[in-house]
Amino acid sequence: MKIMKYINLIVLMAAIATIVSCQPQNKKSTAKNTTIPNRKWWKEAVVYQIYPRSFKDSNGDGIGDLKGIISKLDYVKSLGVNVIWLNPIFASPNHDNGYDISDYREIMKQFGTMADFDTLLNEMHHRGLKLVLDLVVNHTSSDHEWFKQSRSSRTNPYRDFYHWWPAERGKPAKRFSFFDVNNNAWRYDSTTNAYYLHYFARSQPDLNWENPKVRQAIFKMMRFWFNKGIDGFRMDVIPFIAKDTTFPKMPAKYHGNWAHFYANGPHLHEYLKEMNKEVLSKYPNTMTVAEGAGVTIGEALKFVDPARKELNMLYNFDGMSLGYIPGTYKELDPKGVKLVDFKNVYSRWDSIYENKGWGTIYLGNHDQPRMVTRWGNDSPQFRALSSKMLTTFLMTMRATPFYYFGDELGMTNIKFDSIKDYEDIETLHEYQHLKNTGGNLKKFLDNQKMVARDNGRTPFQWDTTKNAGFTTGKPWLKVNPNYKTINVAAEEKNPNSVLSYFKKIIQLRKDNLVLVYGKYTLLDKENPDVYAYTRVLNGEKVLVLLNFTTHKASAKLSFDMNKAKLLIDNYNTVPDANAVKTFTLRPYEAAIFELK
Ligand code: NOJ
Repeated sequence: MKIMKYINLIVLMAAIATIVSCQPQNKKSTAKNTTIPNRKWWKEAVVYQIYPRSFKDSNGDGIGDLKGIISKLDYVKSLGVNVIWLNPIFASPNHDNGYDISDYREIMKQFGTMADFDTLLNEMHHRGLKLVLDLVVNHTSSDHEWFKQSRSSRTNPYRDFYHWWPAERGKPAKRFSFFDVNNNAWRYDSTTNAYYLHYFARSQPDLNWENPKVRQAIFKMMRFWFNKGIDGFRMDVIPFIAKDTTFPKMPAKYHGNWAHFYANGPHLHEYLKEMNKEVLSKYPNTMTVAEGAGVTIGEALKFVDPARKELNMLYNFDGMSLGYIPGTYKELDPKGVKLVDFKNVYSRWDSIYENKGWGTIYLGNHDQPRMVTRWGNDSPQFRALSSKMLTTFLMTMRATPFYYFGDELGMTNIKFDSIKDYEDIETLHEYQHLKNTGGNLKKFLDNQKMVARDNGRTPFQWDTTKNAGFTTGKPWLKVNPNYKTINVAAEEKNPNSVLSYFKKIIQLRKDNLVLVYGKYTLLDKENPDVYAYTRVLNGEKVLVLLNFTTHKASAKLSFDMNKAKLLIDNYNTVPDANAVKTFTLRPYEAAIFELK
């Protein structure tokens, strides 16, 4: 009897193990056989974003560089991603870490040389990886030769490359600057007794896109990089490029929302069409993605409807803005984010691309805190689980995932105590602004621990050696002390690590095109704890269940789970069969089922 019971138990466990395997199921045949209209490589890609300054330093100066990236391409390839997006790598005085370019055709000295760039591109292509560069053309650095010329005299041929307001006309109408200590986007320059415009820092003057010569110069520069063989551009604040050069007062309809106002310049879409005609259409197998700052959901298709011949994709800020108190400087609402609101944002953005265009999805980048700290839970108990759960979300939505380096390890916010530790112009200027105006500095610093951009910029954690193996020198920004446990070397060895899960789920997405192209339907909409949805493509159906809480939670669904097959689950123990039937999830559990 005892032996029979034992055998039965083994048979039962083996059956459960096959059904409930945590490994992705290989379904390459399905992926190939389905007929899907408008397939594009960039829709099926996973983009891995590298902040070059913080990835890998090859020469001990404490700053990541191109040779460092080259030395780690096998690691990137091992992840299963297809595209690398690099933050700006061009010559720059680095007031805004490369978003202030002084020469578009030179590589930033700290990052290496053009020869290093050529090697990088070759080595990437050799491994089947594509390269997307950052196109920063709303502004240049004030060290750019164009600006030096432009500011030198009112009659210089480059004068109209930028926006100038002669002081004899009085003060120009208010424009808000994101990184100015006085929040003022006009800077007086005594050389020519005029103000110039800078939506960002004083050292980032805005280019005058209304001048056809500026557009031609930029298009030429874009062709230069495409001719080298790059595979696309991520376009920095591209919606801001067009301006009404009469500089009227901000119209009331924008309700003080400067980003929205800036994203609605008069000739914006003409310029993007011109860019498409003159450059992008000549490199048809490449991809473009607009940083959709200030773009509302109703305006998104203007950028990405293929019939309009502008850009391929746009990423929006609606999800990222959740949880901030409106009208404040990224001040977190103590009430937190309601999951129902989160679901609404992502569901609405999915719906606009139902018939045309294509979306993007991200939960972290170099302008954001770490994904797990902001959207999951970075406590030791839940860090790994919630990282995996958020990754499951990113990899199962109908949009191209833009995945930020380090999130595949579950890297967390560093939460600096002192302003002295910060390097970012945004934090430093806002701190100075508050200091000048008698603001609450303690409150600001507390909030920065959660929201500051430097949290997402700390050096990558390779191993347990000094400085996490990032550099042999002094790192430009402090390394997060938790590198002793959160690092590539440790996670590569552990089949249940955040890193191992990331690789599995990328493979799952690749093997199941339903996860890329399938129709998305939100289920149990008002559920405050669980995000549940299906993806359906050509008769295939998968169910995604995500518990966003620290407690058990279930969803109200009516599928026959007897025939469901578990494709992946972020717990490395098998879920209880009863829990599967009642859709009960453990804290931060993520599960994907194939439904019959
Ligand atoms: C958006 C970029 O992502 C950010 O890092 C930068 O500071 C601003 N644009 C200005 O270029």
